[in-house]
Amino acid sequence: MKYVMANWKMYLTVDESVALAEQFLAKRVSGTTELTIFPSSLALTLVRNVLNASGISIGGQSCSWAPRGAYTGAVSAELLADAGASYVLVGHSERRHIFGEGDTTVHKKFVGALDAGLIPVLCIGETQEEKEGGKREYRLKKQLFTALSEIDLIGKKFMVAYEPVWAIASSGASEACLPADVDDIHGWIRSELAAYTSAAVPLLYGGSVTPENVVSYASIDTVDGVLVGSASTHADALVALVRAVDTIA
Ligand code: PGA
Repeated sequence: MKYVMANWKMYLTVDESVALAEQFLAKRVSGTTELTIFPSSLALTLVRNVLNASGISIGGQSCSWAPRGAYTGAVSAELLADAGASYVLVGHSERRHIFGEGDTTVHKKFVGALDAGLIPVLCIGETQEEKEGGKREYRLKKQLFTALSEIDLIGKKFMVAYEPVWAIASSGASEACLPADVDDIHGWIRSELAAYTSAAVPLLYGGSVTPENVVSYASIDTVDGVLVGSASTHADALVALVRAVDTIA
């Protein structure tokens, strides 16, 4: 079984999100893939209602760490859980690079997500500059360390998504991360994670995943699933992605 996590970002209106969920359900034949949809916060409960009893999970795209209180404009992990989310993305590169969230903020959000009973999907990834400067492992190590340190992870569920910033479609990606490269770096990330937990942490790859290339990533042993942005926002493409992953044992 592999995971497909569909990050709809801010691509869709509320009506478009509901319509996409309905179209997907109408076209989907059941399979083994574990699918999670990350709609916008405004569409979350309506998409949840459509997907109710379908076995498809819902997640938030980001969260504030404080559970409740005077935090104008924020959506907490507790509110996401209350609205029916099971997962939340933490440390997505667009939050880090567009909204200026640093490693310490990511750590607080990770803790807030766990406290609310959500499964955080910790996104890590290096920029083109860091990669070219030979700082990839250094950057990933620091992102993992700051996010995961000083937390009692025993019995806690979380996932890690490796998303090289230079391979994410929205950042104008001109090159995909080659599957062999993903395999290498996932192996390295898994060995790093052993310092934090003995549990098997699902490890996802994200960045320009499409129905055409998804099998080349999802079929790798070190890849437990994929986190998909733009290609997941069209019903036919989302169905094709999930069907392709269903074919992988
Ligand atoms: P992309 O985005 O699939 O559009 O490259 C992936 C992500 O940002 O999670």
